[in-house]
Amino acid sequence: MIYILVKLLHLFSVLIYGGFLFTDNLILMRMQKTLTKEKYAEVRGYFAKFTKVLVPKALVVAVITGLYLFHVNFGPISDDGLTNFQILLGIKAFLGSWLGLRGILQVFFGIQPFVFKGHKLPFILVILIVFLSQVMYSV
Ligand code: HEM
Repeated sequence: MIYILVKLLHLFSVLIYGGFLFTDNLILMRMQKTLTKEKYAEVRGYFAKFTKVLVPKALVVAVITGLYLFHVNFGPISDDGLTNFQILLGIKAFLGSWLGLRGILQVFFGIQPFVFKGHKLPFILVILIVFLSQVMYSV
């Protein structure tokens, strides 16, 4: 029961984070083409103001619940080395933790990311993470 609750929390929190990236990359960016510079800056300002309340917290929840799911799912490493599942789950967890750490450092501690600054790469990584989360069980 606890596992299902944690997994649901994981799913809802990544839904919020992924939804934010989706809106930013596919909806807001398009507005840039039709709105004036001032209007676009105003819209972005509102978007940032209201998403800041929820999205960073959702990211923290995603990482904490993810660590728990990882702990339960990874399993022991056999003498033959890592299984394909463990390798893909490891990559997924690494990418998820990287995104999480990057977002948390930026929002809560004001440390700007040095590897990628915009929201395009996080968006691509989230798509990759969701893809990995689905194929890791069938490889
Ligand atoms: C923003 C980052 C993340 C996204 C978008 C994400 C997304 C997802 C999705 C979509 C699932 C699939 C659940 C299902 O099909 O039932 C999942 C499962 C899982 N995630 Fe994440 N995740 C993220 C971060 C993390 C982190 C940081 C970890 C571990 C450190 C993690 C560990 C897991 C594990 C172990 C599962 C498998 C749970 C199961 O199948 O029972 N995730 N994740």
